[in-house]
Amino acid sequence: MPVKKAVIPAAGLGTRVLPVSKAMPKEMLPIVDKPAIQYIVEEVVASGITDILIITNRGKDVIEDHFDHSIELDLALRKKGRDEIADSLAEIATMANIHFLRQKETKGLGHAVLQARSFVGNEPFAVLYGDDVILGDTPATKELCEVYDRYGKGVAGIKTVPRNEIGKYCSLGLEPITEMGKFDGVFAIEDMVEKPTEDNLLSLYAILGRCVLTPEIFDILEKTPLGVGGELQLTDAMATLAKTSGMMGIEFSGTRYDMGNKLSIMKAQVETALTHPEIAADFKEYIKKIAQTL
Ligand code: UTP
Repeated sequence: MPVKKAVIPAAGLGTRVLPVSKAMPKEMLPIVDKPAIQYIVEEVVASGITDILIITNRGKDVIEDHFDHSIELDLALRKKGRDEIADSLAEIATMANIHFLRQKETKGLGHAVLQARSFVGNEPFAVLYGDDVILGDTPATKELCEVYDRYGKGVAGIKTVPRNEIGKYCSLGLEPITEMGKFDGVFAIEDMVEKPTEDNLLSLYAILGRCVLTPEIFDILEKTPLGVGGELQLTDAMATLAKTSGMMGIEFSGTRYDMGNKLSIMKAQVETALTHPEIAADFKEYIKKIAQTL
């Protein structure tokens, strides 16, 4: 069965980027002229998925407003002859069937995914962490879905992270898959440890922001005890899924930006501005000038 649904958890507290995330969700932080979560929804749509559930909480109504029609704005723009921008706004509201659900308590990413049970039903589904923007030529979710279609197992989007940072992620035990002697970035995942230490480190490969899960994950989540930080960790449930049914990993081709991390937010801004059709030329000049002073 192909992947037709996606869940975007966006109900975290965003404590790493306070104070900006106090009254504004980090998922709404701009990358030039679009909020992070719009890039994520666009990735889902470009991967052939149009049914999306965004998990929000109190104070995140602005995410719903962003994907809604704004009749007043539409009329005002068209009156001024700015039909092009009005059309692009209308497209945001119609590009997918977007549903919203509130996670009533911030009990972790696993708990957020559990809220999606009745939306997902008995189908495979993609999970895109609402603060992880991945930019590249091929949508990361599409790359994961292709691996799901091939193996029929849960798939994680993975990359290596520097040794001094792996403790913030999960560490994967994995084996590269070779088909007819060729390796194309796909691994079999055998184990994973959330927030590893030097003692239980499995590798420098971590799951970064994307996975495709089978519906078995819901029963597993129900039985998973609270993990690191007293939260229900999705990684703990995925570790059980990997051990019971097997999971695959794919090293996705795009670049990942963590909108919960200050330096990463700035990299996303600068790199996107350098290719943005409207401002790239002027921004390049500005960057060159600044660079001379460093
Ligand atoms: P993170 O752990 O990066 O987000 O979760 P956080 O909890 O906001 O982190 P801090 O406070 O900056 O350390 C990854 C994704 O899961 C969502 C977040 O919104 C983020 O997009 N999430 C996390 C939930 O939806 N619910 C939760 O209970 C926790």
